[in-house]
Amino acid sequence: MEKRNKPYIQHEEPGLKKYCACSLSRNLPYCDGSHHGTGMHSYKVEIETAKTVAICGCGSSKNKPFCDGSHELLQET
Ligand code: FES
Repeated sequence: MEKRNKPYIQHEEPGLKKYCACSLSRNLPYCDGSHHGTGMHSYKVEIETAKTVAICGCGSSKNKPFCDGSHELLQET
């Protein structure tokens, strides 16, 4: 994902979501298909009830695509 020191906070309605894993999307945090040819794949997540989610923007989460707070350990640039 695009390197930033904070998550993308998104309100999601129920349904299948595809979040970017390659950082090439022009519609972050969502996949726009730009990963084709890289060998990477989007993160597919079924959202069952409307809710707000925090999608990792720093690339350091161990629970991708979700933020796990690891960005707190990064220095501001
Ligand atoms: S934005 Fe990556 S862990 Fe929070």
